[in-house]
Amino acid sequence: MKDGQGTATGGRRTPGRSSAMMGGSPAPATSARTYMQSTGRASGAVAARPAVLRVLIRPARPDDLEEATLVERQVWGRLGASLNELQRRLFALPEAFLLAELQRPAHSPRIVGLTNGLLWTRDFPRSYLDYERILPSASHNPRGDVLYLVSLGVEPGLRGRGIGLRLVQEAIEVGRRRHLKQVRLISNGRSRPLHERAGFQVVRPLARLFRQHRDLMPQPVLMELPLV
Ligand SMILES: CC(C)(COP(=O)(O)OP(=O)(O)OC[C@H]1O[C@@H](n2cnc3c(N)ncnc32)[C@H](O)[C@@H]1OP(=O)(O)O)[C@@H](O)C(=O)NCCC(=O)NCCS
Repeated sequence: MKDGQGTATGGRRTPGRSSAMMGGSPAPATSARTYMQSTGRASGAVAARPAVLRVLIRPARPDDLEEATLVERQVWGRLGASLNELQRRLFALPEAFLLAELQRPAHSPRIVGLTNGLLWTRDFPRSYLDYERILPSASHNPRGDVLYLVSLGVEPGLRGRGIGLRLVQEAIEVGRRRHLKQVRLISNGRSRPLHERAGFQVVRPLARLFRQHRDLMPQPVLMELPLV
């Protein structure tokens, strides 16, 4: 983990592992840096085999953040976090600031996805409208035992290949390694199946949140995954 060695994983979907997580069983420990071979969704009986991607899931470093800001903008547009906000999130909880890095022969690695984890106490926030009033980095509480995941995003051209799920699964492992009590996030109508697949359950809809941004966050819901 600390030595940065990657772990080869064979395919995008591992049904046994996913169903174990759905049932709340602990997932096997994984490295903080994990490789995946991603092949994409089959769309028909005669579909050509999509190219295998080599994607490394790893914690961010300070010099990644300018590139991460571009991905953030690409995914979230006007809601994208600034470089300054990403710097604050990295400073808050470096091990939970995860990147998906596409590795291609003869090319420089490229960041194609990210998610950030921050710590919350269980009584925060009193109202989820706070979520729109304060920047996520300002909600970080080092004494918290809830891992709050924010900014999950994958570059549009590389979606549907398992990268988002791997980012979430790796973030869950960070929470387990820190012996946190639960992982929380605000999901939307599009990302909810992914989070359910990772074991999260809906706590309640957050109908008053993101009213001005329903194109980016349709049907927001609070989701939780207990870790103990
Ligand atoms: C949500 C997001 C991160 C998913 O990333 P991804 O790499 O495409 O996700 P995965 O390939 O790991 O998909 C995992 C599961 O998510 C769901 N999913 C992902 N893409 C989907 C699509 N285009 N259509 C339907 N379901 C989809 C499926 O349940 C999928 O599992 P399946 O292939 O077995 O059906 C990506 O679509 C994104 O960046 N969206 C915009 C930002 C956003 O809404 N983020 C979520 C904030 S809570």
